[in-house]
Amino acid sequence: MTLKRKSVPLGTPSPDSGQIKVGSLFAAIGGFCKAFQLAGASIAWANEKDQYATQTFRLNFPRVRHLHKPVEQVSVVADRLKPVDIMTAGFPCQPFSIAGRQLGFEDDRGLLFMHIIRLIREFGAQKPKVLLLENVKNLKTHDTGRTFELIQKEIQKVGYWLGESNAKILNTAHYTDIPQHRERLFMVALNCDFFSANTFQFPDRLPPGFTRSVRNFLDLHQKADDRYYFVPGSQYYSLFREAIDNGDKESVFQLRRSYVRENKTDTCFTLMANMGQGGHNQPVIRDRWGIRKLTPRECARLQGYTDDWFKIPEVISNSQIYKQLGNSVTVTLVERLAKNILQLLNQTQSASDPARCSPAQLHFRHLPRNGKVVL
Ligand SMILES: C[S@@+](CC[C@H](N)C(=O)[O-])C[C@H]1O[C@@H](n2cnc3c(N)ncnc32)[C@H](O)[C@@H]1O
Repeated sequence: MTLKRKSVPLGTPSPDSGQIKVGSLFAAIGGFCKAFQLAGASIAWANEKDQYATQTFRLNFPRVRHLHKPVEQVSVVADRLKPVDIMTAGFPCQPFSIAGRQLGFEDDRGLLFMHIIRLIREFGAQKPKVLLLENVKNLKTHDTGRTFELIQKEIQKVGYWLGESNAKILNTAHYTDIPQHRERLFMVALNCDFFSANTFQFPDRLPPGFTRSVRNFLDLHQKADDRYYFVPGSQYYSLFREAIDNGDKESVFQLRRSYVRENKTDTCFTLMANMGQGGHNQPVIRDRWGIRKLTPRECARLQGYTDDWFKIPEVISNSQIYKQLGNSVTVTLVERLAKNILQLLNQTQSASDPARCSPAQLHFRHLPRNGKVVL
């Protein structure tokens, strides 16, 4: 089965020739990049440190300048980074996630966020007009809201509007036609020198019934490779078989710790970065040939990486591909955000007298320093 992009109402692909330029930090396999290309922007550069994600990125974006190194080593001057209109950053979410240790800024990885701030400062007067940040949904409530407040204050300090209305949790299953339950926090910060008012609007939630059935995303007319099927008689096979026999045979199932759960809403569970390991967290279905995991190609479709453009590198292990897809944003969802951002940028004329953020927005507070980030 080949799943192509639906052209309406979420838009048609555009060539990478847009006037509006995007730079992508923590670019992984390019979910943000593809979404902005589809919305009509072009990608000036991307940065990612993981070698396998870089391989997938380069295969799919051969013409985009890609810096394969830790963000800590990226420099606007030394790397001759072109100023961009929009900078995206789905910064690592482990320190903030429920599954993680919840250390937030006390964890080194939390400090990666501060390199976004450092790079904005390095751009000086040519800093991006819009920042699009993404993270897990509980970033907003982590440490009773202090972590989010800290992020807000740091972004405001470098001259952006970032109020409550600029941060929203969006679920892929509610904002696209893709049936994946995936809630992520998106933050859209606007440069106060360019925008005289904080007017960004998130896309509207789609009406019920817009989402397609999971089975539209699966290859059900041909047998998958043997490695995706559980061997009859094995422990996992028995666990899934019992749950599937007692549930709806068309549902997606998932093994959590020691029990199998069924998604009864014709939706797939959140694709996770650790789903490539063993049978845990993997979405599982029954087809005519047995009980099996979703293939990487099926997972890709459920993240908006459609067959007409997305190439899966042959040289990378399946567990890496699953990890990359679980780490990604849903392209189709970000494409909707990208369109709203591009529309706002196109409408907005640079104010001759630079607008200023209100004093209430610029409430300064300093991050605890541990000497690891020099700003
Ligand atoms: C949640 S993923 C981002 C998803 C991505 N933004 C997209 O477009 O779909 C986070 C990425 O940050 C990368 N990363 C983690 N630490 C990094 C660092 N120090 N420098 C650069 N990239 C890093 C990880 O390898 C991972 O690919």
